[in-house]
Amino acid sequence: MRIPIMAGNWKMNKTRDKALDFVYEVNREVPDLTDVETAIFAQDVHLRCLVKRQGENLKIGAQNVHYEDSGAFTGETSPIALKELGVHYVLIGHSERRSYYNETDESVNKKLHSALKYKLVPIVCVGEVLEAREQNKTLEVVERQTTKALEGITAEQMPGIVMAYEPVWAIGTGKTATAEMANETCKDIRGVIEKLYSKEIAEKVRIQYGGSVNAKNVKELMGMEHIDGALVGGASLDPTSFIELVNAVKEA
Ligand code: 13P
Repeated sequence: MRIPIMAGNWKMNKTRDKALDFVYEVNREVPDLTDVETAIFAQDVHLRCLVKRQGENLKIGAQNVHYEDSGAFTGETSPIALKELGVHYVLIGHSERRSYYNETDESVNKKLHSALKYKLVPIVCVGEVLEAREQNKTLEVVERQTTKALEGITAEQMPGIVMAYEPVWAIGTGKTATAEMANETCKDIRGVIEKLYSKEIAEKVRIQYGGSVNAKNVKELMGMEHIDGALVGGASLDPTSFIELVNAVKEA
């Protein structure tokens, strides 16, 4: 039994007041932890006040983390600082970080080790660009990204890691992968984990889907065997829409 996670990635959106209003409103509405876990990834500058309003279920996450504990890395955030604030989750290797900020498979792997060291729950993002999908290279890409991200990670650590399959061509474009396509690739990622560890471990790891998830397509996606929740951008910004998505996961 894998408890799905509905996560909102706000990216570089929302003022502090709007962020606080959202959390205040949504916290009262989210269902019990045993049905679905919920998370919001906000800009670093809002994390402190949001964490204070973090509920039993709704948890707050950072959108990025540095792999070193401290040092001369201007503009970066240390995992120790995030832990100290009470941040629960951290996103690692989002495709926007990979494409705009030179995030590599190697840095993703280092960040994953660092997040685990400080007991931040990592959500590791993988996904192919349109060209790779068109050339039937999706499996090759997600296999490479997953394998490299997980280098040096032990079987004991694995169940505490969340994976997110986000095809780059589906992010912010309104083009969602069909539920079958998304399920197929999530299944492939589970297969990679099985090859690296075991079937038992692979069955425990939660794999989210992300890319233009909205109230219309969420039910079908969440009904699929290998999809354990969603990582949502645009449709997570409005509290009513986010609650709708959370309830859809719960019912799926
Ligand atoms: P959209 O839901 O806006 O496509 O964004 C997806 C995403 O990047 C979540 O991390």
